[in-house]
Amino acid sequence: MPERLGPRFDLAFTLNGTPVGMATTTATTLADLLRERRDGRGTKLACERAVCGACTVLIDDVPRASCSVFAFEVADSDVRTVEGLGTGGEPSAVQAAFADNSAFQCGFCTAGMILLTEALLARDPDPDDAMIRDWISSNICRCTGYALILEAVREAARRKREAGE
Ligand code: FES
Ligand code: FES
Repeated sequence: MPERLGPRFDLAFTLNGTPVGMATTTATTLADLLRERRDGRGTKLACERAVCGACTVLIDDVPRASCSVFAFEVADSDVRTVEGLGTGGEPSAVQAAFADNSAFQCGFCTAGMILLTEALLARDPDPDDAMIRDWISSNICRCTGYALILEAVREAARRKREAGE
């Protein structure tokens, strides 16, 4: 969606470890800013009502629905998106676990699932299944591939523990 109207202001925040400064409007959502102004198409948009979780990003290490966060709310914050985790040739441990377990079908929920997993494992390196289910419940997989997603999170946790991460 094009940038929404509203008073303009200068926004400064950190995106995937890089300081960002840009002019935007008070009505622009973080999701629109990432997708339209930062080429961040890994952040998906679906419901745009903080219901489905497809647009999940980490703000100061907390998962948030970026469709329902105004850009001005991330001033001076640290924002992480899936683009900041790894590359095709060098994926993060969580990305690799999702790929190795085929934990996606259409892939629309996958960036959010991976970011939720990163945040979960930062808090609890050995979560049980109830914890994993609870943590990813904010992101709806329309392809209902939850069994493989669950296995991917378990696998990511194992790999990170073995690597001492
Ligand atoms: S698009 Fe943001 S929660 Fe659905
Ligand atoms: S893989 Fe299609 S929505 Fe989850």
